[in-house]
Amino acid sequence: MPHPPESFCTARLIARQPRVEDAEAVFTAYASDSGVTRYLSWRYYTEIEPLREFLRGVVQTWETGVGRHYAWLLCLRDTEELIGSIGANFDVHGVMLGYVLGRRHWGQGLMTEAVRYVAAWTLAQPPLFRVWAYCDTENPASARVMEKAGLVCEGRLRRWHVCPTIGSEPRDCFIYAKVR
Ligand SMILES: CC(C)(COP(=O)(O)OP(=O)(O)OC[C@H]1O[C@@H](n2cnc3c(N)ncnc32)[C@H](O)[C@@H]1OP(=O)(O)O)[C@@H](O)C(=O)NCCC(=O)NCCS
Repeated sequence: MPHPPESFCTARLIARQPRVEDAEAVFTAYASDSGVTRYLSWRYYTEIEPLREFLRGVVQTWETGVGRHYAWLLCLRDTEELIGSIGANFDVHGVMLGYVLGRRHWGQGLMTEAVRYVAAWTLAQPPLFRVWAYCDTENPASARVMEKAGLVCEGRLRRWHVCPTIGSEPRDCFIYAKVR
């Protein structure tokens, strides 16, 4: 598996490895907001400690190289404010992306910058041929981010994912990918 970059920059963002001490800032920026987690596979956090525990796992993957899920925290280059996260799940020939941004920063093209970067990095790695993601069919902002980053809709996955913030029933998704 190619080793993902420990950090990267786009025009307005710095992406870096998470630290356990980021838990409070992550909680405040996006992880405690039920409007943000509405279409995500995890429920919003109501306490810091479980988030710290999650970050411990992410940090461990970066440190040991054991595991297939790598996540970066996204900060504004100007102010260093922590505003979101993007994650990459590796399999043998591809990477699946997931991403989230604090509500105050929506609609400025920021996540498109991050997705473009990680998609380009993925497809520049010799063993990797596919970068892909899925979004709830009721999450058009996420679908649009993928389109703007050059991913193409491959179809609808029916009853594919559960959004615990909404309920326990699996919901329909659109799947998008870019290949080389
Ligand atoms: C989805 C998300 C990451 C988008 O990030 P962002 O930085 O606001 O995205 P961008 O500004 O790059 O692009 C958003 C696009 O969606 C469009 N959009 C936003 N809301 C929309 C809506 N309700 N219907 C249609 N298009 C919409 C915007 O107009 C923009 O497109 P444009 O540039 O053509 O005008 C952000 O809204 C978010 O974090 N949401 C909560 C978590 C989430 O859903 N993550 C994705 C899980 S699959």
